[in-house]
Amino acid sequence: MKAVILAGGTGSRLKPLTYWTNKHLLPVGTYPMICYGVTALRDAGIRDIVIVTGRTALAGFADVLGSGRDWGVSLTYRVQEEAGGIAQALELARPVIASGEKFAVLLGDNLFEENLGHFRERFERQPEGAMVLLKKVDDPRRYGVPILSETDGKIVRIEEKPERPQTDFCVTGLYFYDSGVFDLIENISPSQRGEMEITDVNNAYAIQGKLAFAKVHGWWTDAGTFEALESAGKKLKGFLP
Ligand code: G1P
Repeated sequence: MKAVILAGGTGSRLKPLTYWTNKHLLPVGTYPMICYGVTALRDAGIRDIVIVTGRTALAGFADVLGSGRDWGVSLTYRVQEEAGGIAQALELARPVIASGEKFAVLLGDNLFEENLGHFRERFERQPEGAMVLLKKVDDPRRYGVPILSETDGKIVRIEEKPERPQTDFCVTGLYFYDSGVFDLIENISPSQRGEMEITDVNNAYAIQGKLAFAKVHGWWTDAGTFEALESAGKKLKGFLP
């Protein structure tokens, strides 16, 4: 299975650090953030990885990761010319994913403690559709929040950053898709904030009854805020790639 790491965006919640560098190149413990995503996928048995980022940051990723050889992976880079949302960035991976091929998508600021290999294996056994990973959190209002079906173990719909969340689970930034995702992206429109939202893509699967989920049990964070970045740094201080 291949994976796509989405490592673009403006990193607005981490300004002023992100005035001079891409969020995913900021230090977490002793490594740039992107290294954790690459090694998490590698340790899940995924060696073929596409990194999508903006043009000004590209050289930084190449400095840290190169071809991926020293990290035990093979990297391909795709450039997002302007920030237009997570789903728009994902669209750039289309030429690299073959028709009928299943793949994983990781938001580059999502850090997982647990080995992710069992999620990959589970999705390999899923005949079609998509799968997202859920985690119990203290403040679900910051995230996508799933409404779960009581009968078939699927997600009915995801509400993005709801004021009144219906559960205390959030949808983390590791997604598994079949190659039909690219046709679904073509049919979604930008949200009120002008971005192509990954939650709209996931909801297109949910409407078809094809959005499965699994729960993350280990520690998880998205390191997109100062607070999360600091706690992730402490947690991952002794990390060995
Ligand atoms: C994105 C998704 C959200 C998800 C989160 C996980 O939000 O839109 O559904 O819960 O990632 O990190 P963002 O961090 O881009 O606001």
